[in-house]
Amino acid sequence: VQSESIEPLHVAIIMDGNGRWATRRGLPRVAGHRAGVSAVRRVIEHAPDLGISALTLYAFSSDNWKRPAQEISGIFSLMRAYLRLETDRLKRNSVRLQVIGRRDRLPQLLLREIERTEHETAAVKRLRVRIAVDYSSRDAIAIAAGSAFSGFSAVPEPSLNVARRMLNQALTNDAGEVDLLIRTGGEKRLSDFLLWESAYAELFFTDCMWPDFGTTNLTEALEEFRRRQRRFGGVPADTTRAEQRAIGGAH
Ligand code: IPE
Ligand code: IPE
Ligand code: MG
Repeated sequence: VQSESIEPLHVAIIMDGNGRWATRRGLPRVAGHRAGVSAVRRVIEHAPDLGISALTLYAFSSDNWKRPAQEISGIFSLMRAYLRLETDRLKRNSVRLQVIGRRDRLPQLLLREIERTEHETAAVKRLRVRIAVDYSSRDAIAIAAGSAFSGFSAVPEPSLNVARRMLNQALTNDAGEVDLLIRTGGEKRLSDFLLWESAYAELFFTDCMWPDFGTTNLTEALEEFRRRQRRFGGVPADTTRAEQRAIGGAH
């Protein structure tokens, strides 16, 4: 596609609806999570063709610990299998994979697979994929603020801008702010995902359940994104010119 001429995008996805997808088919919820893994594969495979350079995927929130132990361990074993089986394909596709979120509560075996995959894909970067596991945006902000400001009095000019820059650096870890945030599954909320990084993200909500999400859906989201006008609080440049012309013409 025309990815060369377009700004590289950071797309974030709240992959919701696995449980309902399974329940509707009379299957256990974990079957929905299994089907969700195929959707992850599809999206990662096609993202670079659509001009996406960074992808942050919400896989398990810190609030998801509230779920039955059986579902949680099912999700973790799917993640472990994915990482173990997928590394070669990730490397072939030049995907750098990283996991964001808390690590101290994850099972040892999963943690080891995460560290191995991160290490093995560290050098490649056609596409950067960040998977959020045991992730809470409010916790991430609180942690970043804590470490950024422990030496705050030593900052030469402790201003709002310095504070913003430090937090931005700590939170985006170079993936940049979110351009487009997609949520599948029909709910229209953020559920504690990338609150700081999505300050000016375009939001795209779809009723499609995550296991059904494919290339067509992603393409549709990006087409809508490209039709939107991002203003970041300003006014579009052509408005200003048109207004000056109008004023010039009126006098
Ligand atoms: C999203 O799907 C995956 C996780 C939160 C782990 P859900 O499991 O939340 O699916 P629904 O929302 O119950 O359908
Ligand atoms: C958000 O989905 C978390 C993930 C998709 C991993 P949830 O299903 O947990 O969110 P709520 O409970 O509907 O807000
Ligand atoms: Mg859900």
